[in-house]
Amino acid sequence: MKNFWTSLPRPLKILAPMEDVTDTVFRQLVLKCGRPDIFFTEFTSTDGLFSKGRERVIHRLKFDKREGPIVAQIWGKNPENYWKAAQLLAEFGFDGIDINMGCPVEKIVKSGNCSALIENPSLVSELIRATREGAPQLPLSVKTRLGFSSLNTEEWCGFLLNQDIHALTVHGRIAKHLSKYRVKWEEIQKVVQLRDSLKRDIVVVGNGDVKSLSEVDEKVRTFGVDGVMMGRAIFENLYLFSRDSIPLSERSVSEKLSLLLEHIDLFESTWGETKPFRILKKFFKNYITNFWGASELRASAIECETSQEVKDLLQKFLLEYSSRELDSRPGTLMNDDKESDGKLGGKRVEILSL
Ligand SMILES: Cc1cc2nc3c(=O)[nH]c(=O)nc-3n(C[C@H](O)[C@H](O)[C@H](O)COP(=O)(O)O)c2cc1C
Repeated sequence: MKNFWTSLPRPLKILAPMEDVTDTVFRQLVLKCGRPDIFFTEFTSTDGLFSKGRERVIHRLKFDKREGPIVAQIWGKNPENYWKAAQLLAEFGFDGIDINMGCPVEKIVKSGNCSALIENPSLVSELIRATREGAPQLPLSVKTRLGFSSLNTEEWCGFLLNQDIHALTVHGRIAKHLSKYRVKWEEIQKVVQLRDSLKRDIVVVGNGDVKSLSEVDEKVRTFGVDGVMMGRAIFENLYLFSRDSIPLSERSVSEKLSLLLEHIDLFESTWGETKPFRILKKFFKNYITNFWGASELRASAIECETSQEVKDLLQKFLLEYSSRELDSRPGTLMNDDKESDGKLGGKRVEILSL
């Protein structure tokens, strides 16, 4: 088996899977700005893959070869569909498979999926076995939390470490806490110690609230993890995985807007009419920030109804901006650009941590 989990240099720096964010378009943008060691797809329903609604989920598995090593993340609770999904993912050319046992979204958990599996270890064993049998040539990983409604690190992660898996990513919170409260890195450290005491050859990755590569180094040094997965920090800085690189928010206006234009073009050429334009709007704040007139421009961009309208708006702004020679003031946070987190152009956007 080609197991990238063990062959890649340490520490592993991984972009977290994020639904409706980390599709192939976004991952390719990240790749351009600074390559993480490993990419994950958004989580994909194994039941959905073998249902009439297949077309509505299969787009999550689109990827470009340059993104590799790339892991397909799946969820569900039917072992047969895991077995079939594993075969399909191997055919598609993925480098690994990950099972989501961490998503705490109520609708999903209510039906016994994702983080609800923490309370159903016998089914977990079956799902792992089915996936391994479906794709014995691919390494298998699990992404989970420290417990479901209470902290249960030793029992739950100890159980997982005894399964036939190659890597384990632990988000340092319990499911009930969603993304609230402090991330318990000392509990993640216990998982590393458990792995060592069980003498299992399983890679342990920590996840939760890490915002930079220097913090990755610090977590690895302090808690002994093999790597760190970062999610939401990428919203603030597309250059997150590029060491010593200037963060996106501090770059020039033309760099920010050119990158946004590239994002829109890639979105259009990849998805055409198959994904709604409104999905793009959640990214505007990443790029249209921290310069004179940013908040007005962002508000106008949010009002646009087509990608062509946004492109025209950005190009016009760039022309006017350069003619006013204001581009010489990168990195200055202007009063008119101050907004609280989670607000785009005055509209509330929920960012859930799964
Ligand atoms: C918008 C959004 C979508 C997410 N989608 C997924 C997902 O599809 N699969 C998954 O395992 N975790 C998902 N997560 C959780 C992240 O992978 C990660 O565990 C969480 O954000 C904590 O890491 P962070 O503090 O570095 O963001 C999502 C999080 C967010 C904010």
